[in-house]
Amino acid sequence: MIRSSIITLMPEEMAPRAPYHLLTSIAAPRPIAWVSTISAAGEHNLAPFSFYNAVAGFPPTIMFSVSERQTRLPHTKDTLRNVREVGEFVSHVATEDLADEMIISSADVPPGFNEFELAHLEIIPSIHIRPLRILAAPVAMECRVTQIVPVEGSTNTMVLGRVLCFHIREDLLRDNGLVDTVKMEPITRLGGSIEYTRIGELIHLPVADPDEVLRRLER
Ligand SMILES: Cc1cc2nc3c(=O)[nH]c(=O)nc-3n(C[C@H](O)[C@H](O)[C@H](O)COP(=O)(O)O)c2cc1C
Repeated sequence: MIRSSIITLMPEEMAPRAPYHLLTSIAAPRPIAWVSTISAAGEHNLAPFSFYNAVAGFPPTIMFSVSERQTRLPHTKDTLRNVREVGEFVSHVATEDLADEMIISSADVPPGFNEFELAHLEIIPSIHIRPLRILAAPVAMECRVTQIVPVEGSTNTMVLGRVLCFHIREDLLRDNGLVDTVKMEPITRLGGSIEYTRIGELIHLPVADPDEVLRRLER
């Protein structure tokens, strides 16, 4: 049998952006939180974040991680400034039919520009919080910020938020209480800046039975 050899890479010996590109191609596919916020002054903001995941089931809690902006001042992105000021956000699922709008909303435009308008997205008010919701998004979660955690050694800050309510398009909610994730058609991010994917084939795996696992030891 031919075995490929393993290459070992040390982040501190790699080119500056290389560990980011490598890591994002490994921790993939990543769902995209399409995050709506509002500043204390009332300016609305929308931007996607793929350093994102669920971190607790009850109370339902999600996180996303914001890096510093490299290209211009201020280094702090509007989303992070807003969640610090107001403590609320809406996280939408970025779906394939809204991919173009999601990309437009990621443009690094100065504060004061409204990404909802730039991306021609219709909006509706949230129920519990001030940030707006995207009308066309099939799934949105209104969240209250619970923790803001600096990621040691990096320019990233992790924002954790408790889901106050879920908004789900009716045809996506199944009788078993789950969303039909395949039908939702999320786009997910791979490595680097331009690689994305859609959900592939759905497969089922069994739930591990500890007794059965231990019985295997005896065989
Ligand atoms: C699909 C996608 C995922 C992104 N994920 C992140 C992320 O996880 N963290 C981050 O800081 N920026 C991420 N970005 C870049 C931000 O969306 C971008 O910097 C945006 O301009 C920030 O907007 P703001 O200043 O209005 O908050 C991502 C961009 C795209 C297109």
